[in-house]
Amino acid sequence: MNIVVIGVGYVGLVTGLSLAKLGHKITFLDIDSSKISTLSNGTPTFSEPNLDSYLNNEEIKKSIQFFDKYESIDWKNIDVVLICVQTPVDDSGDLNSSFIKNVFSSLESNISDETVVCVKSTIHPAAIDDVFNDLSFNYDDLVFNPEFLREGSAFEDFFQTDRIIIGSNNKQNSELIAKLYDGIDTEILFMDPISSQLVKYLSNAYLPMRLSFVNEASRLIDVLNANQKDVLNGVGLDSRIGQEYFRPSPGWGGSCFPKDVKELQSLSHLSNLNLSLINSINNSNIEHIDWFAKKIKDLVLHNQLKKVILMGASFKENTDDIRYSPSLQIYSKLIESEIDVSIYDENFIFPKDIKQITSIIDDSLIVEMYPQEETYKKLKKQIQSMNNLIYFRFWES
Ligand SMILES: NC(=O)c1ccc[n+]([C@@H]2O[C@H](COP(=O)([O-])OP(=O)(O)OC[C@H]3O[C@@H](n4cnc5c(N)ncnc54)[C@H](O)[C@@H]3O)[C@@H](O)[C@H]2O)c1
Repeated sequence: MNIVVIGVGYVGLVTGLSLAKLGHKITFLDIDSSKISTLSNGTPTFSEPNLDSYLNNEEIKKSIQFFDKYESIDWKNIDVVLICVQTPVDDSGDLNSSFIKNVFSSLESNISDETVVCVKSTIHPAAIDDVFNDLSFNYDDLVFNPEFLREGSAFEDFFQTDRIIIGSNNKQNSELIAKLYDGIDTEILFMDPISSQLVKYLSNAYLPMRLSFVNEASRLIDVLNANQKDVLNGVGLDSRIGQEYFRPSPGWGGSCFPKDVKELQSLSHLSNLNLSLINSINNSNIEHIDWFAKKIKDLVLHNQLKKVILMGASFKENTDDIRYSPSLQIYSKLIESEIDVSIYDENFIFPKDIKQITSIIDDSLIVEMYPQEETYKKLKKQIQSMNNLIYFRFWES
Protein backbone atom coordinates (compact mmCIF):
# COMPACT_ATOMS: atom_id res chain seq x y z
CA MET A 1 0.00 0.00 0.00
CA ASN A 2 0.97 3.66 -0.40
CA ILE A 3 1.21 5.15 3.07
CA VAL A 4 1.94 8.66 4.37
CA VAL A 5 3.33 8.72 7.92
CA ILE A 6 2.76 12.13 9.51
CA GLY A 7 5.11 12.90 12.42
CA VAL A 8 8.51 11.24 12.15
CA GLY A 9 9.40 10.82 15.84
CA TYR A 10 9.91 7.57 17.76
CA VAL A 11 6.58 6.08 16.72
CA GLY A 12 6.35 7.43 13.16
CA LEU A 13 9.88 6.54 12.10
CA VAL A 14 9.94 3.04 13.59
CA THR A 15 6.43 2.23 12.30
CA GLY A 16 7.14 3.57 8.81
CA LEU A 17 10.47 1.76 8.41
CA SER A 18 8.96 -1.48 9.70
CA LEU A 19 6.01 -1.18 7.31
CA ALA A 20 8.50 -0.55 4.47
CA LYS A 21 10.21 -3.80 5.44
CA LEU A 22 6.83 -5.52 5.12
CA GLY A 23 6.68 -4.25 1.51
CA HIS A 24 4.70 -0.99 1.73
CA LYS A 25 5.69 2.32 0.09
CA ILE A 26 6.20 4.94 2.78
CA THR A 27 6.21 8.72 2.51
CA PHE A 28 7.41 10.33 5.73
CA LEU A 29 6.14 13.86 6.44
CA ASP A 30 7.27 16.11 9.29
CA ILE A 31 7.15 19.89 9.69
CA ASP A 32 10.59 19.76 11.33
CA SER A 33 12.69 20.30 8.20
CA SER A 34 16.03 19.70 9.91
CA LYS A 35 14.79 16.26 11.04
CA ILE A 36 13.68 15.49 7.48
CA SER A 37 17.00 16.54 5.97
CA THR A 38 18.97 14.50 8.55
CA LEU A 39 16.88 11.41 7.84
CA SER A 40 17.09 11.91 4.07
CA ASN A 41 20.87 11.68 4.47
CA GLY A 42 20.51 8.33 6.22
CA THR A 43 21.37 9.66 9.67
CA PRO A 44 19.20 8.52 12.61
CA THR A 45 17.58 11.32 14.62
CA PHE A 46 17.55 9.36 17.90
CA SER A 47 19.26 6.39 19.41
CA GLU A 48 17.37 3.10 19.03
CA PRO A 49 18.78 -0.40 18.45
CA ASN A 50 18.66 -1.32 14.71
CA LEU A 51 17.41 2.11 13.59
CA ASP A 52 20.55 2.81 11.55
CA SER A 53 20.41 -0.52 9.75
CA TYR A 54 16.72 -0.13 8.85
CA LEU A 55 17.22 3.44 7.65
CA ASN A 56 20.15 2.45 5.46
CA ASN A 57 18.94 -0.95 4.30
CA GLU A 58 19.13 -0.99 0.45
CA GLU A 59 15.69 -2.63 -0.03
CA ILE A 60 13.96 -0.32 2.48
CA LYS A 61 15.61 2.76 0.95
CA LYS A 62 13.88 2.01 -2.37
CA SER A 63 10.45 2.24 -0.64
CA ILE A 64 10.79 5.37 1.49
CA GLN A 65 10.90 9.11 0.89
CA PHE A 66 10.96 12.13 3.20
CA PHE A 67 9.12 15.48 2.91
CA ASP A 68 8.69 18.53 5.12
CA LYS A 69 5.68 20.05 3.29
CA TYR A 70 2.15 18.78 2.82
CA GLU A 71 2.05 20.32 -0.69
CA SER A 72 5.01 18.21 -1.85
CA ILE A 73 2.97 14.99 -1.66
CA ASP A 74 0.85 13.54 -4.46
CA TRP A 75 -2.22 12.89 -2.27
CA LYS A 76 -4.31 11.29 -5.04
CA ASN A 77 -2.64 7.90 -4.80
CA ILE A 78 -2.39 7.49 -1.05
CA ASP A 79 -4.20 4.50 0.50
CA VAL A 80 -3.54 5.26 4.16
CA VAL A 81 -2.41 8.19 6.32
CA LEU A 82 -0.92 7.28 9.70
CA ILE A 83 -0.91 10.17 12.19
CA CYS A 84 1.95 9.86 14.68
CA VAL A 85 2.39 13.39 16.06
CA GLN A 86 2.97 14.15 19.74
CA THR A 87 0.03 14.47 22.17
CA PRO A 88 1.50 16.09 25.30
CA VAL A 89 -0.47 16.95 28.45
CA ASP A 90 -0.42 20.11 30.54
CA ASP A 91 0.16 20.09 34.31
CA SER A 92 -3.49 19.40 35.10
CA GLY A 93 -3.49 16.31 32.90
CA ASP A 94 -5.44 17.85 29.99
CA LEU A 95 -4.43 16.89 26.48
CA ASN A 96 -2.74 19.50 24.29
CA SER A 97 -4.53 18.58 21.08
CA SER A 98 -3.07 21.40 18.97
CA PHE A 99 -0.56 19.15 17.15
CA ILE A 100 -3.18 16.67 16.05
CA LYS A 101 -5.67 19.43 15.14
CA ASN A 102 -3.01 21.10 12.98
CA VAL A 103 -2.49 17.85 11.09
CA PHE A 104 -6.20 17.54 10.34
CA SER A 105 -6.49 21.12 9.15
CA SER A 106 -3.52 20.59 6.81
CA LEU A 107 -5.05 17.35 5.54
CA GLU A 108 -8.51 18.79 4.87
CA SER A 109 -7.56 20.60 1.69
CA ASN A 110 -5.25 17.87 0.40
CA ILE A 111 -6.51 14.39 1.06
CA SER A 112 -8.76 12.38 -1.28
CA ASP A 113 -12.02 10.75 -0.13
CA GLU A 114 -10.65 7.25 -0.72
CA THR A 115 -7.72 7.64 1.67
CA VAL A 116 -8.18 6.01 5.08
CA VAL A 117 -6.97 8.17 7.98
CA CYS A 118 -5.62 6.29 10.97
CA VAL A 119 -4.55 7.84 14.29
CA LYS A 120 -1.61 6.12 15.99
CA SER A 121 -1.01 8.97 18.45
CA THR A 122 -2.42 8.40 21.93
CA ILE A 123 -5.59 10.42 22.56
CA HIS A 124 -7.58 9.86 25.67
CA PRO A 125 -11.20 8.80 25.13
CA ALA A 126 -12.82 11.91 26.60
CA ALA A 127 -10.79 14.12 24.26
CA ILE A 128 -11.86 12.30 21.10
CA ASP A 129 -15.11 14.29 20.81
CA ASP A 130 -13.34 17.58 21.35
CA VAL A 131 -10.64 16.82 18.80
CA PHE A 132 -12.67 15.28 16.02
CA ASN A 133 -16.13 16.82 16.18
CA ASP A 134 -15.13 20.16 14.73
CA LEU A 135 -13.36 18.67 11.76
CA SER A 136 -14.76 18.25 8.32
CA PHE A 137 -13.72 14.58 8.54
CA ASN A 138 -16.34 12.01 9.33
CA TYR A 139 -15.37 10.69 12.76
CA ASP A 140 -16.97 7.33 11.96
CA ASP A 141 -14.54 6.77 9.09
CA LEU A 142 -11.43 7.34 11.20
CA VAL A 143 -9.44 4.41 12.50
CA PHE A 144 -7.53 4.37 15.79
CA ASN A 145 -4.56 2.03 16.01
CA PRO A 146 -2.79 2.72 19.32
CA GLU A 147 0.92 2.00 19.47
CA PHE A 148 2.52 -0.17 22.18
CA LEU A 149 6.19 -0.20 21.17
CA ARG A 150 8.82 0.28 23.86
CA GLU A 151 11.76 2.57 23.20
CA GLY A 152 14.93 0.48 23.36
CA SER A 153 13.29 -2.52 21.65
CA ALA A 154 10.95 -0.76 19.25
CA PHE A 155 11.67 -2.76 16.06
CA GLU A 156 11.54 -6.06 17.90
CA ASP A 157 8.21 -4.99 19.43
CA PHE A 158 6.79 -4.09 16.01
CA PHE A 159 7.44 -7.54 14.55
CA GLN A 160 6.76 -9.53 17.71
CA THR A 161 3.89 -7.58 19.15
CA ASP A 162 1.53 -9.20 21.68
CA ARG A 163 -1.52 -7.77 19.89
CA ILE A 164 -2.73 -5.20 17.37
CA ILE A 165 -5.67 -3.02 18.46
CA ILE A 166 -7.89 -1.44 15.83
CA GLY A 167 -10.71 0.89 16.86
CA SER A 168 -13.24 2.25 14.36
CA ASN A 169 -16.94 2.38 13.54
CA ASN A 170 -16.09 1.64 9.90
CA LYS A 171 -15.55 -2.09 9.30
CA GLN A 172 -14.06 -1.70 5.83
CA ASN A 173 -11.51 0.88 6.98
CA SER A 174 -10.58 -1.27 10.01
CA GLU A 175 -9.94 -4.22 7.75
CA LEU A 176 -7.71 -2.13 5.48
CA ILE A 177 -5.60 -1.05 8.47
CA ALA A 178 -5.37 -4.69 9.60
CA LYS A 179 -3.97 -5.55 6.15
CA LEU A 180 -1.02 -3.23 6.77
CA TYR A 181 0.22 -5.83 9.22
CA ASP A 182 -0.03 -8.86 6.90
CA GLY A 183 3.05 -10.91 7.66
CA ILE A 184 2.97 -10.33 11.42
CA ASP A 185 1.85 -13.30 13.45
CA THR A 186 -0.28 -11.89 16.25
CA GLU A 187 -3.86 -11.46 17.39
CA ILE A 188 -5.76 -8.49 15.90
CA LEU A 189 -8.61 -7.14 18.03
CA PHE A 190 -11.31 -4.98 16.39
CA MET A 191 -13.35 -2.63 18.58
CA ASP A 192 -14.87 0.86 18.76
CA PRO A 193 -12.58 3.94 18.98
CA ILE A 194 -13.10 4.67 22.69
CA SER A 195 -12.44 1.06 23.70
CA SER A 196 -9.25 1.03 21.61
CA GLN A 197 -7.89 4.10 23.44
CA LEU A 198 -8.87 2.62 26.80
CA VAL A 199 -6.80 -0.48 26.01
CA LYS A 200 -3.81 1.85 25.52
CA TYR A 201 -4.41 3.93 28.67
CA LEU A 202 -5.15 1.00 30.98
CA SER A 203 -2.04 -0.85 29.73
CA ASN A 204 0.02 2.29 30.32
CA ALA A 205 -1.38 2.56 33.85
CA TYR A 206 -0.94 -1.10 34.75
CA LEU A 207 2.73 -1.25 33.75
CA PRO A 208 3.97 1.72 35.83
CA MET A 209 1.71 0.57 38.69
CA ARG A 210 3.65 -2.72 38.63
CA LEU A 211 6.98 -0.87 38.54
CA SER A 212 5.88 1.30 41.45
CA PHE A 213 4.79 -1.78 43.38
CA VAL A 214 8.27 -3.27 42.96
CA ASN A 215 9.84 0.04 43.98
CA GLU A 216 7.71 0.27 47.12
CA ALA A 217 8.57 -3.37 47.88
CA SER A 218 12.27 -2.62 47.39
CA ARG A 219 12.08 0.25 49.91
CA LEU A 220 10.55 -2.11 52.44
CA ILE A 221 13.22 -4.70 51.67
CA ASP A 222 15.90 -2.03 52.09
CA VAL A 223 14.65 -0.76 55.46
CA LEU A 224 14.36 -4.30 56.83
CA ASN A 225 17.80 -5.23 55.50
CA ALA A 226 16.29 -8.19 53.70
CA ASN A 227 17.74 -9.69 50.51
CA GLN A 228 16.22 -7.97 47.48
CA LYS A 229 17.03 -10.72 44.99
CA ASP A 230 15.62 -13.49 47.20
CA VAL A 231 12.43 -11.62 48.05
CA LEU A 232 11.58 -10.48 44.51
CA ASN A 233 12.47 -13.88 43.09
CA GLY A 234 10.24 -15.54 45.69
CA VAL A 235 7.33 -13.23 44.88
CA GLY A 236 7.79 -13.30 41.10
CA LEU A 237 7.95 -17.09 40.87
CA ASP A 238 4.22 -17.16 41.58
CA SER A 239 2.98 -17.64 38.01
CA ARG A 240 0.05 -15.30 38.67
CA ILE A 241 2.59 -12.54 39.36
CA GLY A 242 5.52 -13.37 37.06
CA GLN A 243 9.08 -12.09 36.96
CA GLU A 244 8.92 -10.03 33.80
CA TYR A 245 8.89 -6.28 34.30
CA PHE A 246 9.58 -6.80 38.00
CA ARG A 247 12.87 -4.95 38.53
CA PRO A 248 13.38 -2.11 41.02
CA SER A 249 14.61 1.19 39.61
CA PRO A 250 15.30 4.79 40.65
CA GLY A 251 11.77 5.50 39.33
CA TRP A 252 10.03 5.24 35.98
CA GLY A 253 9.72 7.96 33.32
CA GLY A 254 9.74 8.36 29.55
CA SER A 255 7.40 10.03 27.14
CA CYS A 256 4.39 7.79 27.74
CA PHE A 257 3.80 6.51 31.30
CA PRO A 258 3.83 9.81 33.22
CA LYS A 259 1.59 11.57 30.70
CA ASP A 260 -0.82 8.69 30.11
CA VAL A 261 -1.28 8.05 33.85
CA LYS A 262 -1.91 11.75 34.42
CA GLU A 263 -4.53 11.79 31.65
CA LEU A 264 -6.21 8.70 33.06
CA GLN A 265 -6.40 10.46 36.42
CA SER A 266 -8.01 13.51 34.83
CA LEU A 267 -10.39 11.17 33.00
CA SER A 268 -11.46 9.60 36.31
CA HIS A 269 -12.15 13.08 37.76
CA LEU A 270 -14.12 14.05 34.67
CA SER A 271 -16.15 10.88 35.06
CA ASN A 272 -16.74 11.58 38.79
CA LEU A 273 -15.07 8.34 39.71
CA ASN A 274 -12.72 7.85 42.61
CA LEU A 275 -10.15 5.43 41.21
CA SER A 276 -7.86 5.55 44.20
CA LEU A 277 -5.34 2.98 42.98
CA ILE A 278 -4.91 4.58 39.55
CA ASN A 279 -4.85 8.04 41.15
CA SER A 280 -1.88 7.11 43.33
CA ILE A 281 0.44 5.64 40.67
CA ASN A 282 2.15 8.94 39.82
CA ASN A 283 2.47 9.93 43.49
CA SER A 284 4.10 6.63 44.34
CA ASN A 285 6.71 7.34 41.66
CA ILE A 286 7.32 10.89 42.89
CA GLU A 287 7.80 9.55 46.45
CA HIS A 288 10.19 6.89 45.20
CA ILE A 289 12.31 9.38 43.27
CA ASP A 290 12.48 11.55 46.45
CA TRP A 291 13.45 8.50 48.50
CA PHE A 292 16.12 7.54 45.98
CA ALA A 293 17.62 11.05 46.01
CA LYS A 294 17.67 10.97 49.83
CA LYS A 295 19.30 7.53 49.79
CA ILE A 296 22.09 8.97 47.59
CA LYS A 297 22.48 11.98 49.91
CA ASP A 298 22.72 9.71 52.99
CA LEU A 299 25.37 7.53 51.28
CA VAL A 300 27.40 10.63 50.41
CA LEU A 301 27.29 12.02 53.94
CA HIS A 302 27.83 8.70 55.67
CA ASN A 303 30.90 7.89 53.56
CA GLN A 304 32.22 11.45 53.48
CA LEU A 305 32.29 11.54 49.70
CA LYS A 306 32.75 14.68 47.65
CA LYS A 307 30.91 13.93 44.44
CA VAL A 308 28.00 12.00 42.96
CA ILE A 309 28.15 10.63 39.43
CA LEU A 310 24.87 9.44 37.95
CA MET A 311 25.47 6.77 35.30
CA GLY A 312 23.03 7.41 32.45
CA ALA A 313 20.81 10.36 31.59
CA SER A 314 17.91 8.76 29.74
CA PHE A 315 14.87 7.17 31.36
CA LYS A 316 16.05 3.62 30.71
CA GLU A 317 18.71 1.62 28.87
CA ASN A 318 19.09 1.56 25.04
CA THR A 319 17.51 4.93 24.36
CA ASP A 320 18.59 8.58 24.42
CA ASP A 321 15.09 9.79 25.34
CA ILE A 322 15.34 12.02 28.42
CA ARG A 323 11.64 12.94 28.63
CA TYR A 324 10.61 12.64 32.33
CA SER A 325 13.90 10.87 33.05
CA PRO A 326 14.35 9.99 36.76
CA SER A 327 18.09 10.68 36.29
CA LEU A 328 17.42 14.33 35.52
CA GLN A 329 14.89 14.65 38.35
CA ILE A 330 17.36 13.15 40.84
CA TYR A 331 20.10 15.37 39.42
CA SER A 332 17.98 18.48 40.18
CA LYS A 333 17.12 17.28 43.69
CA LEU A 334 20.81 16.71 44.50
CA ILE A 335 21.70 20.15 43.13
CA GLU A 336 18.99 21.64 45.40
CA SER A 337 20.67 19.85 48.33
CA GLU A 338 23.99 21.41 47.29
CA ILE A 339 25.56 18.07 46.41
CA ASP A 340 28.25 18.17 43.71
CA VAL A 341 26.61 15.95 41.07
CA SER A 342 27.32 15.21 37.43
CA ILE A 343 26.10 12.72 34.84
CA TYR A 344 28.23 10.18 32.99
CA ASP A 345 26.74 9.12 29.67
CA GLU A 346 28.83 8.31 26.63
CA ASN A 347 25.94 8.39 24.18
CA PHE A 348 24.44 11.68 25.03
CA ILE A 349 24.55 15.30 24.00
CA PHE A 350 23.71 17.12 27.21
CA PRO A 351 21.57 20.21 27.62
CA LYS A 352 23.89 23.06 28.68
CA ASP A 353 22.58 23.26 32.26
CA ILE A 354 23.65 19.70 33.08
CA LYS A 355 27.14 18.98 34.32
CA GLN A 356 28.71 16.19 32.32
CA ILE A 357 31.65 14.08 33.41
CA THR A 358 33.82 11.96 31.15
CA SER A 359 36.12 10.28 33.68
CA ILE A 360 35.72 8.96 37.19
CA ILE A 361 37.43 10.75 40.06
CA ASP A 362 38.37 9.86 43.67
CA ASP A 363 35.95 10.28 46.58
CA SER A 364 32.87 9.72 44.45
CA LEU A 365 29.63 7.85 44.74
CA ILE A 366 28.79 6.31 41.36
CA VAL A 367 25.09 5.57 40.97
CA GLU A 368 23.92 3.22 38.23
CA MET A 369 20.56 4.58 37.03
CA TYR A 370 19.71 1.52 34.89
CA PRO A 371 21.70 -1.60 34.00
CA GLN A 372 25.00 -0.57 32.41
CA GLU A 373 26.89 -3.84 32.08
CA GLU A 374 29.27 -2.63 29.34
CA THR A 375 30.09 0.70 30.95
CA TYR A 376 30.50 -1.02 34.30
CA LYS A 377 32.91 -3.58 32.85
CA LYS A 378 34.94 -0.77 31.25
CA LEU A 379 35.09 1.24 34.47
CA LYS A 380 35.68 -1.68 36.83
CA LYS A 381 39.47 -1.70 36.46
CA GLN A 382 39.66 2.05 36.84
CA ILE A 383 37.38 1.99 39.88
CA GLN A 384 39.51 -0.61 41.69
CA SER A 385 42.56 1.63 41.63
CA MET A 386 40.78 4.66 43.01
CA ASN A 387 40.39 6.00 46.53
CA ASN A 388 37.16 6.12 48.48
CA LEU A 389 34.85 5.23 45.68
CA ILE A 390 31.49 3.49 45.98
CA TYR A 391 29.54 1.97 43.09
CA PHE A 392 25.85 1.90 44.00
CA ARG A 393 23.49 -0.33 42.05
CA PHE A 394 20.00 -0.41 43.52
CA TRP A 395 18.98 -3.76 42.01
CA GLU A 396 20.83 -6.94 42.86
CA SER A 397 21.87 -8.82 39.74
N1 LIG B 1 7.54 7.33 22.22
C1 LIG B 1 6.95 6.20 22.53
O1 LIG B 1 7.57 5.27 23.05
C2 LIG B 1 5.47 6.01 22.26
C3 LIG B 1 4.93 4.71 22.37
C4 LIG B 1 3.58 4.53 22.11
C5 LIG B 1 2.77 5.62 21.77
N2 LIG B 1 3.30 6.86 21.71
C6 LIG B 1 2.42 7.98 21.30
O2 LIG B 1 2.69 8.24 19.91
C7 LIG B 1 2.61 9.65 19.64
C8 LIG B 1 3.93 10.15 19.08
O3 LIG B 1 4.93 9.98 20.06
P1 LIG B 1 6.50 10.18 19.71
O4 LIG B 1 7.25 9.88 20.97
O5 LIG B 1 6.81 9.45 18.45
O6 LIG B 1 6.51 11.77 19.43
P2 LIG B 1 7.75 12.67 18.97
O7 LIG B 1 7.61 13.93 19.72
O8 LIG B 1 9.02 11.89 19.02
O9 LIG B 1 7.45 12.93 17.41
C9 LIG B 1 6.36 13.67 16.94
C10 LIG B 1 6.72 14.28 15.59
O10 LIG B 1 5.56 14.90 15.01
C11 LIG B 1 5.99 16.05 14.30
N3 LIG B 1 4.86 16.95 14.07
C12 LIG B 1 4.22 17.74 14.97
N4 LIG B 1 3.21 18.41 14.37
C13 LIG B 1 3.20 18.04 13.07
C14 LIG B 1 2.40 18.39 11.94
N5 LIG B 1 1.38 19.25 12.04
N6 LIG B 1 2.66 17.80 10.75
C15 LIG B 1 3.70 16.93 10.61
N7 LIG B 1 4.50 16.57 11.65
C16 LIG B 1 4.25 17.11 12.86
C17 LIG B 1 7.06 16.64 15.20
O11 LIG B 1 7.90 17.54 14.49
C18 LIG B 1 7.79 15.38 15.67
O12 LIG B 1 8.87 15.05 14.83
C19 LIG B 1 2.20 10.31 20.96
O13 LIG B 1 0.80 10.41 21.01
C20 LIG B 1 2.68 9.30 22.01
O14 LIG B 1 1.93 9.40 23.19
C21 LIG B 1 4.64 7.09 21.92
